[in-house]
Amino acid sequence: MSLQNKIVHLSCRRFVCNSGALHKSASSEARTVLAVGDETTQQSLVENIQMKSLKEMPGPSAVGNLVEFFFRDGFSRIHEIQMEHSQKYGKIFKSRFGPQLVVSIAGRDLVAEVLRSEGVAPQRGNMESWQEYRNLRGRSTGLISAEGEDWLKMRSVLRQLIMRPKDVAQFSDDVNSVVVDMIKRVETLRSQQPDGLTVLNINDLFFKYAMEGMAAILYEDRLGCLENEIPQKSQDYITALHLMFSSFKMTMYAGAIPKWLRPIIPRPWEEFCSSWDGLFSFSQIHVDKRLEEIKEQMSKGEEVKGGLLTHMLVTREMNLEEIYANMTEMLLAGVDTTSFTLSWATYLLARNPKVQQQIYEEIIRTLGHGTVPTADDVPNLPLVRGLVKETLRLFPVLPGNGRVTQDDLVIGGYFIPKGTQLALCHYSTSLDEENFPGAEGFHPERWIRKDATDRVDNFGSIPFGYGIRSCIGRRIAELEMHLALTQLIQRYQICPDAPTAYKPPVH
Ligand code: HEM
Repeated sequence: MSLQNKIVHLSCRRFVCNSGALHKSASSEARTVLAVGDETTQQSLVENIQMKSLKEMPGPSAVGNLVEFFFRDGFSRIHEIQMEHSQKYGKIFKSRFGPQLVVSIAGRDLVAEVLRSEGVAPQRGNMESWQEYRNLRGRSTGLISAEGEDWLKMRSVLRQLIMRPKDVAQFSDDVNSVVVDMIKRVETLRSQQPDGLTVLNINDLFFKYAMEGMAAILYEDRLGCLENEIPQKSQDYITALHLMFSSFKMTMYAGAIPKWLRPIIPRPWEEFCSSWDGLFSFSQIHVDKRLEEIKEQMSKGEEVKGGLLTHMLVTREMNLEEIYANMTEMLLAGVDTTSFTLSWATYLLARNPKVQQQIYEEIIRTLGHGTVPTADDVPNLPLVRGLVKETLRLFPVLPGNGRVTQDDLVIGGYFIPKGTQLALCHYSTSLDEENFPGAEGFHPERWIRKDATDRVDNFGSIPFGYGIRSCIGRRIAELEMHLALTQLIQRYQICPDAPTAYKPPVH
């Protein structure tokens, strides 16, 4: 088997994101509802029923946390802080962010307990700032920002369209047309380097791939991001999106900084609003374009055919504002998540040539050198699927997730009142030896089932979340990553370039 060609320079960087918490519904007994943070009242209640109160829960001091996040760039190091705190305080601990109390859960079984007992409409975190922006501009909430009945309605529409692998398989050809463009781009980039082999800035390549893929699926349109000459309009959108993503950290402060501080520190809120303006207008242009096409087809008496957006526009199970909002929020959720995971996957392959060779052999055994993989081939490529799972275990793009408790509950012997923000620490559970022996290593094969009874699922690593509020785009993301990685490994030997090769291994 000749391994042709070579890609790469890999300048991966970790994307961290603090998304609130996760919640659940409760332990059985009904108790008096307590205000979150009212630790004295809780104390008197728990004294009678023999469980520990939040007051007894360990955790960093409020001042220490403030310094960590606002003066030591903690929002960029959430994963590290999570590890430090879980090592120091254990599998359940509390932190304070100003008035906000957060209970962190860093044990696999405790995470499972929380998620398995969720109610019908789990809440991830406080979305006040997202909702405030939408109220200000007369926009609707989308799946990420909506709660309660609104969320349930939108979720039930989208669930039927993009949650099942067989529904998503219909996007296989669209995704493959984007993979073709990405490979062409790889060739162009290599030809521009003196060695004719190296692709510089693989993050940028995958960002454009993911963006193009999302546009193909969400907007049923192409943007030309992977062309040599990117259309000016698309370039403007890419710039706007980059701005949105690069200011994302700032937008976290927007949520964390109280409203009364805005006149004194106006920048985070202003950036937050202008980022959303860019994203909404990007989506609206594409939705409106498709809407006009549909109207024209209908006026000519032509049959209207299409994908996700066409279905939504024709059936009107959501109104137009809800469609704009969902397209916007899915685009936000679907670009850098997928692209960073692809960057990390190629990084890990480059660092682990033996593993890469095994995956290459699986691909050649299954598809040969020339067959273009489709969604139907993915079940026959367990190591490729393992590669994606293992990458997301080692580098989960969302190192933590959130829930707001919708009932009182008892977790790890502590009484946790309704309305408490929980933070589920996926990064630390993913790297816990108890959950994954040899946790620091890269072992895609650990995800292969030995037989039908073998359960490789593990609450220690749930990069797409779990349950009714889990990632709605999971199947789309997996399809994009499986098809891209299969073709890349089929065609190229992925190696680190010289400067990358001499860096010490990450794990
Ligand atoms: C590697 C890729 C991705 C990862 C790791 C990822 C991860 C996640 C996680 C952890 C959540 C929270 C789940 C929970 O609370 O239980 C989430 C929610 C969500 N994701 Fe993804 N995601 C990815 C790609 C995508 C894509 C491609 C889309 C769009 C097509 C998308 C759309 C969404 C939406 C709309 C939600 C909110 C769901 C809801 O609240 O009902 N994601 N994602």
